[in-house]
Amino acid sequence: MNIYLKKSDPHIAKLVAAETKRQSETLDLIPSENIVSDAVLEAVGSVLINKYSEGYPRKRYYAGNGVADDVEMLCQERAKKLFELGDEWSVNVQALSGSPANMAVYFALLKPGDTVMGMALSSGGHLTHGSPVNFSGKLFRIVSYDVTAKGFLDYDQIRKIARKEKPKMIIAGATAYPRIIDFEKFADIAREVGAFLIVDMAHIAGLVASGSHPSPFSAKGARLRNGQEQVLADVVTTTTHKTLRGPRGALIFSRNDRMIMSKNKAGAKVSISRAIDSAVFPGLQGGPHDNQTAAIAVCLSEAMKPTFKTYGKQIVKNAKALAQHLRKLRFKLVSGGTDNHLMLIDLTNMGLTGKQAQDKLEQAGIIVNRNTIPHDTRSPFDPSGIRIGTPSLTTRGMKEKEMKIVAQLIYETLAKSNLSGTRKSIGALCRKFPIV
Ligand SMILES: Cc1ncc(COP(=O)(O)O)c(C=O)c1O
Repeated sequence: MNIYLKKSDPHIAKLVAAETKRQSETLDLIPSENIVSDAVLEAVGSVLINKYSEGYPRKRYYAGNGVADDVEMLCQERAKKLFELGDEWSVNVQALSGSPANMAVYFALLKPGDTVMGMALSSGGHLTHGSPVNFSGKLFRIVSYDVTAKGFLDYDQIRKIARKEKPKMIIAGATAYPRIIDFEKFADIAREVGAFLIVDMAHIAGLVASGSHPSPFSAKGARLRNGQEQVLADVVTTTTHKTLRGPRGALIFSRNDRMIMSKNKAGAKVSISRAIDSAVFPGLQGGPHDNQTAAIAVCLSEAMKPTFKTYGKQIVKNAKALAQHLRKLRFKLVSGGTDNHLMLIDLTNMGLTGKQAQDKLEQAGIIVNRNTIPHDTRSPFDPSGIRIGTPSLTTRGMKEKEMKIVAQLIYETLAKSNLSGTRKSIGALCRKFPIV
């Protein structure tokens, strides 16, 4: 492995080896992480990395882009096929990651100062959904919605806020919400107040692709080609590296039959898809990363296989099993459990902060991230909870039986002071389910 790297840069080769060992010997419960296939790794490390391709297929600013065009068009075709989308949808595959993808949507559809409704960071929303420290909160007027004290979205409350504030854009989607999101209700609210509905499905894209979470594209998900189903989102963004199990990257799906006034030509109208393409390039980025685009295409093809459907369903089965065993061990879960790939543990009854729990679990070999719980009184730097999920362990082949063991290991780690026995059990579980 890494023969050239070892020769030319032994220092970095050593660090890569150390990271490989760390990933193999620990249990990764961070719900936004996963383990890509060797095929994805090869595509990321391919010669496509050498090419500049500013522009879009067949409209590039540099010569020699025949292959890059084919790669990008194949990626677009697969993205639409995976989510069963017809000609009314376009997809941009060039945004370098989830945050730039969301930024492109803001810049395409809004003017600075326009009103946007997104889920508060403290309730599980992402930074790009309007946090004051992010471009979204700095450039736009944000009206946040929260979850209830029990941790559920309250659609009546969201409708009330939307009626009062008249946002131009409503963002549905989250980074730490353990329940199904009702996109039909969001679409209904957005239509009523005349707002664009943007769904950020970064966390759940793999679940949507495998039929384990309702689709944000249309009311029944599939059969869009007959044009008879209720359209839900105007735009759907996603990262490609979470439950979708691809390389770092993003996809922006948008309706090309939804028109807005052009920002470049006074009085002219453009589709939101055209506006989003222009916002990505030349608005925010230069050349796309063609090696990344190729690797996204590989992951999309993997996600179309029947085994991925089984994988998506197993992620949810594992999360439900883990939640059930944690509850039996007296852990308090926000909203009482999970419908998707993640859950939030409220540690307030355990005399531990999120950071203390995260650090202790890491010492034992369990990798989680600290997280605020709804209406947290502590700071995001040392909040009252941790966020855990099952995508990575499910990729390693673990099932419900192992989730009982993982719950017990989490419990032991947080309850005990001597971790040597627990560390050994974690090592044994990791060896039994190696990263292939
Ligand atoms: C819902 C959501 N949107 C967007 C992003 C941003 O993705 P990235 O970290 O690739 O910029 C994340 C990342 O965690 C996310 O959870």
